[in-house]
Amino acid sequence: MTVPAKIKQEVASLRKQIAHHNRLYHSLDAPEIPDADYDALLLRLEELEQDYDLATADSPTQRVGSTPLDQFTQVRHEIAMLSLDKVFGEQELRDFESRIQKRLNSDEDLSYSCEPKVDGVAVSLLYEDGVLSRAATRGDGVTGEDITHNVKTIQSIPLKLKGLNGSSRLEVRGEIFLSKPGFEKLNERAQKEGTKVFVNPRNTAAGAVRQLDSKATAKIPLEMYCYSVGIVQGISLPTHLSEIFNELAELGLPVNPDRQTAHGIDACLDYCMSLLAKRDDLVYEIDGAVIKVDDLVTQQSLGQNAKSPRWAMAYKFPAEEKSTRVLDVEFQVGRTGTVTPVARLDPVFVGGVTVSNTTLHNMDEIKRLGLRIGDTVVVRRAGDVIPKIVKVLHPEKNKTPRKVKLPTTCPACGSAVEKDGEVLFRCSAGIICPAQRKESIKHFASRTAMDIEGLGSKLVDQLVDEELIENVADIYKLTLDQLAGLERMGTKSAQNLINAIEGSKATTLPRFLFALGIREVGDATAMALVNHFEDIDPLANATPEDLEKVADIGPIVAQHIAIFFNNKDNLALIKQLRKSGIHWPVVDTSVAEKPLEGQTFVLTGTLEAMPRNAAKAQLVGLGAKVAGSVSRNTDCVVAGPGAGSKLAKAEELGLKVMDEGEFLAFLDDLTK
Ligand code: IVH
Repeated sequence: MTVPAKIKQEVASLRKQIAHHNRLYHSLDAPEIPDADYDALLLRLEELEQDYDLATADSPTQRVGSTPLDQFTQVRHEIAMLSLDKVFGEQELRDFESRIQKRLNSDEDLSYSCEPKVDGVAVSLLYEDGVLSRAATRGDGVTGEDITHNVKTIQSIPLKLKGLNGSSRLEVRGEIFLSKPGFEKLNERAQKEGTKVFVNPRNTAAGAVRQLDSKATAKIPLEMYCYSVGIVQGISLPTHLSEIFNELAELGLPVNPDRQTAHGIDACLDYCMSLLAKRDDLVYEIDGAVIKVDDLVTQQSLGQNAKSPRWAMAYKFPAEEKSTRVLDVEFQVGRTGTVTPVARLDPVFVGGVTVSNTTLHNMDEIKRLGLRIGDTVVVRRAGDVIPKIVKVLHPEKNKTPRKVKLPTTCPACGSAVEKDGEVLFRCSAGIICPAQRKESIKHFASRTAMDIEGLGSKLVDQLVDEELIENVADIYKLTLDQLAGLERMGTKSAQNLINAIEGSKATTLPRFLFALGIREVGDATAMALVNHFEDIDPLANATPEDLEKVADIGPIVAQHIAIFFNNKDNLALIKQLRKSGIHWPVVDTSVAEKPLEGQTFVLTGTLEAMPRNAAKAQLVGLGAKVAGSVSRNTDCVVAGPGAGSKLAKAEELGLKVMDEGEFLAFLDDLTK
């Protein structure tokens, strides 16, 4: 088809205009034209491309997001996507180099590529004949999900590589992330439009790449830095990683400008320290540095372990700390009546989230910190761990200090506050205290308990305040009319909630026991109880002595459980809940698989992906014993970041050690 010159010109001009507006919108957050005008430009371009067969792989029409998918397609990585081993300090990094030198039988200094460890989501991009043909998540390293539709909306990822002709296949891997300014702009926009604000850049990026509707992804200003290559066919690349990065940049791919090559491990440590010093000034979030042997031939000869290469190491930075002021200390009443001091802070962005409240645990903690209202404090937050006040700064500079005083009466119901044990204080009113009632209902409905989606904290407060519910059994008596009549609740949300309440009736016994909120019975203990007693009646009839026979249950926990099941009100509540339809499959544990029977595990350090209790529950469920200390009888130690003496002892005894990634894969294999 011959295309009139005028049309060719219009297409070129439209592409230029659209690229210009994209830049204004995404990079500068200063759009010059309304969304509708932008859409009109795109529509016109789409029309012309179709009518005159002018579509190209790198046209902006390819980036706008396509029809939503029903589900993700799985992608098998031709070359597995590995993860990294990690270290937390200087000596460990030196040990990394020593191990390498030993393997290479050489004591010469090596050259390394040093890079920021960007906190985002790993991705693989496949370019076939220079055109982006597929993008996939890492998944479990072997199989990921096809996210091409979403990745095409990322402006800095080229749809076509520059100057690559002929038949070739090139897979580049890297991290998709949301910059700090991008995140702030997004939240400013959300606030203006009254939509939901995002919690932190990493989660926002992770959510955005896994959207089925790429139009939603297109609204998030995602970015990417490439950090390695996978498949390389029909194209020759340099022999050193640092040079490969330069080559990738030539091809138009985004590479991290804060990378550096370093000779010898001292230079790598210098890099880590200077990166740490400028961490706050970087426009993207990092959780460490990555040190990689630069020469690919050496990489090859070093090879890999089960999940990670021997030639690379993540040097993880300590948890981020920031200072802020304590505006006030208030007291919260928990579901078992514990009265806990909570610091209200001048909001501060630390470890990827804005922190405005943090628990102080108990009065002893306040004494230990020497904390008074008005003090400037250091707040620390690592990974998904709850933020913590670590110390008070310059107490002498607080000109208007106020001492924190424990209230003598419950802030929620006015009943007396009593001392319970060494450090705890409790509201003496029990379940008639509205705060305790609310908290126990919130716990019951929560995700790890009965998992009633939509019954969140605010709604529970509202339902109790309006006297629609008093206890957890009342949840199952709520009607559609009652819910739809609530302020800020539409008929659709009310119906969804009714469905979720109905759906929660089919549960499991460990969940139900955990949901009841028996003191000291977390999800791991609930699981251990079910493994031992198999159903609720034998458990309810058990004496403290019977209960102590369960692994990991001591006299105090046994006492709490026995007291709970000796209480008539509690038994009546359970009866009512079962009558309303709550049921669970009865598991015949005698035939249930117990692949870890007889094995002892120790968990140490911080687990980032799953709460320690959940890990414990899974292990106990699979028949393992979870011990608190490492000995010769330990079969396996699961060590998260920050693991110290237990890990050292495990290594000394030559025990099997898994990091969290390996542990998750191990559980996955067992429970498949
Ligand atoms: S290299 C074979 N380099 O950290 C090495 N990873 O487990 C594979 N990450 O899944 C990773 N920045 O998502 C590498 N400069 C960087 C990185 C990086 C962030 C992520 C990556 C990986 C995880 C470590």
